[in-house]
Amino acid sequence: MVNDQDLFDLFHRKLREMWFSEKKIHNSLPKMANAAQSDALRAAFKKHEAETQRQIARLGNIFGLIDRGAKEESSIALAALLDEGTEAMVKFKNSSALDAALIAGAQAIEHHEIACYGTLKAWAEQLGMQDAVDLLDETLTEEKDTDKALTNLAEEMANEKAKDDVRETDHDAPVGVATSATTERSESKPARKVVAATKKPISLKERTVKAKGTRRKGRN
Ligand SMILES: [Fe+2]
Repeated sequence: MVNDQDLFDLFHRKLREMWFSEKKIHNSLPKMANAAQSDALRAAFKKHEAETQRQIARLGNIFGLIDRGAKEESSIALAALLDEGTEAMVKFKNSSALDAALIAGAQAIEHHEIACYGTLKAWAEQLGMQDAVDLLDETLTEEKDTDKALTNLAEEMANEKAKDDVRETDHDAPVGVATSATTERSESKPARKVVAATKKPISLKERTVKAKGTRRKGRN
């Protein structure tokens, strides 16, 4: 069974890692906002920069609650995620996929933070530190909301791309000939479904029949 002191030491170390991580993230968010191509993504990064400032203050409060000085402990995982995000930002600087790369990098960091804050909250509960639990829960909720907001932005971008693809298909079609996309198109349906409808997957039965046909041909 875990000794309370050992669990407390573990909690304290993780808290120090988050102190290090949030400060690094706070430094990186303005760069990500500057790099973002869409206004919505830029706004999301700026909003999270302000939240991160409050998250740093909350961590400071928890250090006070447990009567420990706020000290950084470097996090190898967070440093690697930030490096990966920066590398993608540089490599895709002039690419139309830059925003997609920024979202992917930011979500990887959010997922890491959600795991860490979830763990810290569970340990604080085990140690009976309710004030710390409440503060950690506030931050955990913000991280989850940020992750959801990024998912929504990614889906909107994918839908925009799908709409562009449909427009291109419409443009390429001979005059008077409706493409499968235009015939299936409905103003109320999301463009993603339109694209899915044009790429009908082969069923298992069809695949089996095809495979049997190929084997028979091979024998002849
Ligand atoms: Fe955070």
